[in-house]
Amino acid sequence: MLNVPVTMLLQLIRGVSGSMDKDGICHCVVYLPNNAIYLQQLEQLQNTAQELMGKYEQELSRVSEYAHAIEDQENQVLEMNSTLNSRNPTFLASSYEFPAFNLLRLELEGAQELVAQLKTNRRVSGVSDLLHELQSQVANASLTLKLLAESDQRSFRALRQEVDVLESRLHECEREKEQEETSIHPDPPLSPGSCAHGGLQKVSRPLVVQLNWRGFSYKSGAWGRDSAPSPASSLFWVAPLREDGRYFDYYRLHKSYDDLVLLKNYEQWKMGYGDGSGNTVYKNFMYFNYYGTSEMAKVDLSSNSLVLRRPLPGATYNNRFSYAGVPWKDLDFAGDEKGLWVLYATEESKGNLVVSLLNASTLEVEKTWHTSQYKPALSGAFMACGVLYALRSLSTRQEEIFYAFDTTTGQEHQLSILLDKMLETLQGINYCPLDHKLYVYNDGYLVNYDLSFVTLKSRPPAKRPSGTQAPPKAVKHNKGSRT
Ligand SMILES: *[C@@H]1O[C@H](CO)[C@@H](O)[C@H](O)[C@H]1NC(C)=O
Ligand SMILES: *[C@@H]1O[C@H](CO)[C@@H](O)[C@H](O)[C@H]1NC(C)=O
Ligand SMILES: *[C@@H]1O[C@H](CO)[C@@H](O)[C@H](O)[C@H]1NC(C)=O
Repeated sequence: MLNVPVTMLLQLIRGVSGSMDKDGICHCVVYLPNNAIYLQQLEQLQNTAQELMGKYEQELSRVSEYAHAIEDQENQVLEMNSTLNSRNPTFLASSYEFPAFNLLRLELEGAQELVAQLKTNRRVSGVSDLLHELQSQVANASLTLKLLAESDQRSFRALRQEVDVLESRLHECEREKEQEETSIHPDPPLSPGSCAHGGLQKVSRPLVVQLNWRGFSYKSGAWGRDSAPSPASSLFWVAPLREDGRYFDYYRLHKSYDDLVLLKNYEQWKMGYGDGSGNTVYKNFMYFNYYGTSEMAKVDLSSNSLVLRRPLPGATYNNRFSYAGVPWKDLDFAGDEKGLWVLYATEESKGNLVVSLLNASTLEVEKTWHTSQYKPALSGAFMACGVLYALRSLSTRQEEIFYAFDTTTGQEHQLSILLDKMLETLQGINYCPLDHKLYVYNDGYLVNYDLSFVTLKSRPPAKRPSGTQAPPKAVKHNKGSRT
């Protein structure tokens, strides 16, 4: 009646005295305690014991689960190790540079030992302690794995470099494609001296004309074509500085490009007062910085006579704010379709590039603009159609025209037109409006580039009489839609 386990009854019975009757049958009287609560407690106790047994079994089976998981993880690590090794054998050799991986390896080795211990000590006490340790080690291992993923910077950097290389190839490809397209569909050529365009678009590959006439060691200088926008003058000039990269003494004049290329029919003059490679030729006069001063000088090229000297107000000189990589170019003269300009810096401008339009006959400053560009950070600049274009060096082989300042609107903007170079430094950069070319003195070599400008598309006049709705546009592939 009472659902009391036999073992417990036996315990209750033990010690109860019995008596035997005449038939030899034993009788004993058990006084079951009528205190039901005691029995219930016993019952509960037994239940709890069973529950505990169950839990114990569960924990044990979990241990083997953990063991399997750890083994799996270990295998994964081994796999990872072998892929890493096959990718880069020196990768793990210098594992001190890679602490996360080392840590992981040690911890997993620890875990492995622990698993082995568990396998042998499965039925022995202390399992729950081991379990806890194992758990925290697994947690540690996964944390370390995460660390490993984050600190795998080396492969990330390598990947990044590859992406960069690919990107630059892509850009190259795009440029080539563009060039091909324009050679297939060339824009109508811009007439000499014309400003009927929307600004500089791109620059051709460099054409190396020749080494300067004084030789390879004359790395600094300038050359160009008379930048007067009239075809009357076709004077080509070459002015290598002395080997000190500063003093401008001799120059040569050629009446034509062919003469220049063939090094014949030239006039060679000694000037002897120029400073730096900022000179230019405009309407048969050469303009340059008078040596050791802030003065502008003007020489009549038909007689090689110095006709004018005039200080440029505020201009810094003696290599105070020259261009990056091009010393002594404090005053940089430029001619374009709009006139004669001088690019320089002042103390007031804190070294930022200042542009002044000059009266070519008197060298008076007619108007001045201030740009936001620090002159010593630029590698050079030139003017075209009243727009200043500034360059910076990207590498030993590439320059970027990255900044433009329009003196007509006073507005500046960023751009990115790449320009390949043969050697590192572009000492002299002169633009000629007649042929829309840049004449660059590149470490002693005379180089030129064709400039392309954005074509102004003549837009067909949109006829839309006021009050009436615009007629629906014809759908391209549906020739019958026009009514
Ligand atoms: C990883 O591979 C290297 C080279 O094969 C070996 O020396 C090292 O013991 C391996 N590490 C682990 C954790 O297996
Ligand atoms: C887990 O990592 C912590 C911090 O690195 C360390 O103190 C602890 O001993 C590690 N636990 C195990 C079981 O390795
Ligand atoms: C340059 O200055 C002279 C003398 O002041 C003047 O006659 C001439 O018109 C000026 N030239 C220009 C282009 O402004």
